[in-house]
Amino acid sequence: MVNTIVQDIKTTENYILLTIKTEKEINIEPGQFVMLKLKQFDFGKPFSVIYQEGKIIKFLIAVVGKMTKEMKNLKIGDSLELRGPYGIPFIEKLHKNKKYVLLGGDCGSAPLIHFSEKYPELVREQIYGFVIPEIKKILNIKHLHIDIEEGINPLQKAENLNISNDDGFLVCGSLNFIKYTQKKFMDYKIFASLEARMGCGIGMCKGCPIKTNDGIKMICKDGPIFDLSEVDLEW
Ligand code: FES
Repeated sequence: MVNTIVQDIKTTENYILLTIKTEKEINIEPGQFVMLKLKQFDFGKPFSVIYQEGKIIKFLIAVVGKMTKEMKNLKIGDSLELRGPYGIPFIEKLHKNKKYVLLGGDCGSAPLIHFSEKYPELVREQIYGFVIPEIKKILNIKHLHIDIEEGINPLQKAENLNISNDDGFLVCGSLNFIKYTQKKFMDYKIFASLEARMGCGIGMCKGCPIKTNDGIKMICKDGPIFDLSEVDLEW
């Protein structure tokens, strides 16, 4: 467990961009996640990193439950506990002879943005899709796609990209977003970073199972990234 201090926090109604500083440097590879715990909670929750530089780590967080609602009230100087990193880095599973279209749905964009910073040579195109423009108040990056401004969703936009048959997709978002990507781009190699309700984060509680060609795996320990041709999303 590593103690961390809040360095900065930006909020909108539904999102938080949280910057923390760890007491010692830890290396978090794109695709890995950490468990963050507020002191008033008994358990932590998993969060993907959007940026890391040394001891400074940023998270893009959707405000969806009790803990993330409480996180909105964090102030600079407050402390948080961090466990991890956990999960297998994207780079260990991806085929390195391909370039990837990064397709993010909502805060699922965070680990893809982290990946694009660290491995730009593996990136063909990037689309980070959000439904409403609110996100622009705290996240000012290229490749943001806002559904209601553009009148199409990120998958429709991806159809118009100039991509070759050898390119792959790296997708992260809701299960439905991943399923639609699989349906639309079935001729391509697709890797997806799957989300799950997590307890332990280390493969012990068996709370995040997924059926694969190789038997039941745990998303936290064996993923979160999987080759979609090897998992059963309907299970
Ligand atoms: S969260 Fe416990 S096994 Fe995955």
